[in-house]
Amino acid sequence: MGLFKTLSERLAEAAEDQGRFSAALTLFLRLGMAALLTAVLVVHQDLAVLTLPYLFGLFALSFGAGALLHQTLKKMPDYEAIGAKAEKVLYICTFLGAGGAQLVVRAHTGEGLPVEFLAFAPLAAQALLAAVIIGAPMSVIGVTVTSLLLGIARVVPVEVLAPAWLCSAAAANLVSPLKRRAHLVRAALILSVLQAGAAVAVASTMYSNGLHIAESAVWGAVAAIIAASVFWLGTAFMEKLVGITSDWTLLELTGPDHPLLRELVMRAPGTYAHSVMVANLSEAAARDIGANPIACRAMALFHDIGKTERPNSFIENQTGHNPHDDLAPRVSSKIIRGHVTHGVVLAKEHKLPDILIDGITQHHGTSVIAWFLHKELERCPDAHSKDIESDFRYAGPKPQSREAAILHLADMVEAASRTAKPETKFEDLIDSIVEATQRDGQLDECELTFRDLLETKRAFAQVLSAMRHDRIEYPEKEEEQPAENESDDHDSEQLEKANSN
Ligand SMILES: [Fe+2]
Ligand SMILES: [Fe+2]
Repeated sequence: MGLFKTLSERLAEAAEDQGRFSAALTLFLRLGMAALLTAVLVVHQDLAVLTLPYLFGLFALSFGAGALLHQTLKKMPDYEAIGAKAEKVLYICTFLGAGGAQLVVRAHTGEGLPVEFLAFAPLAAQALLAAVIIGAPMSVIGVTVTSLLLGIARVVPVEVLAPAWLCSAAAANLVSPLKRRAHLVRAALILSVLQAGAAVAVASTMYSNGLHIAESAVWGAVAAIIAASVFWLGTAFMEKLVGITSDWTLLELTGPDHPLLRELVMRAPGTYAHSVMVANLSEAAARDIGANPIACRAMALFHDIGKTERPNSFIENQTGHNPHDDLAPRVSSKIIRGHVTHGVVLAKEHKLPDILIDGITQHHGTSVIAWFLHKELERCPDAHSKDIESDFRYAGPKPQSREAAILHLADMVEAASRTAKPETKFEDLIDSIVEATQRDGQLDECELTFRDLLETKRAFAQVLSAMRHDRIEYPEKEEEQPAENESDDHDSEQLEKANSN
């Protein structure tokens, strides 16, 4: 006992030491980043200006800015999952913005030429990159911090910096969310017009020469095109560096020409139709609760790609004979669960990003394939459900993010709605699925709040009503109560089948 106590105490001390060490390391890294940022900010300054108090002031402000960004990021709902990566994105983007501004200042040699409006480019590129990876609000905060530091260090004159900040904040919102690939071209065009307009407005207060004012407009527009090009080239590099997949990459993957989706259409058309429906449901719910709709759409399109191995084993692809009629329930369960493992193999072969692999592994969580479990219990009445349940449960893990949780629910709702009786109300069907999922603990490891669930259910009902409008709904009558019970039985049957989708 004494030995055990000593060991546990030592382990606790070691954990405490490790915690202290990692906190010290983080502080050291932040100090290093602030020193580096200070160096970037003063690189073009005259040596006469670089006094110790001046350098210390800039260093303190850079460190304070880093601390502010860290505290703001901590308030993100999924900070545990991507907070550290998002902080890295902000640091890299800030270096890009500050370093790019220095380059423009060095290029601006001709006195009286309005080339200074090219300084719009690095800030806009910073805003675009950060917005598409970590969202517009954080991107705007990052650009604000960079602009303030550039202004304090007198790298860029305030009359250029103020419109540059304004246009960058607009740029962040133009690409977040980026719904289609073509939207980048639209965003670049709008940004060109905005920056040209802002440059003309500022140049009108600086120059009396009309030619200079017109040139300012051209440089402002050119800066937008440079920013869009840096964004286009830099996104993949940034993703590799920090390990976050941007909406831009997810959009590229969701095009119908992806080989895995083409194979799904050819080999399992029913599953493809199901995946598109799940994508519509989860995208709508994600938009309503402020989760990432593009991530949800991409996860939904790829979640069942593993079914291409044995498409006929899944109800949505069957046209006649059901192969499970000739199989033992345990074998059927193994085949059904196999679509998750095979999906992961295919996803890795095609180098799909981690977020899509998470969608594949988590879309069933650790739920039970009740349909075949009941069949097995009917076959062996002496068996206890608890003893054999593990053979009928998916390996999981349970949904870890709000997007994975939405996918988990949308998958079951779509499957159940496909075969629900016309008189079943979608709201009731969705309620029963969400309740059963909560009871089974499948939503215990994600950040979905009670309010999110309400919004999600509402979004599902709206999308289902719009998509399955051909169903005839019957009015409810008091005397038809037995029929409703019958419908409940039917619904629970759909729920059981839904777990195998
Ligand atoms: Fe599935
Ligand atoms: Fe599915």
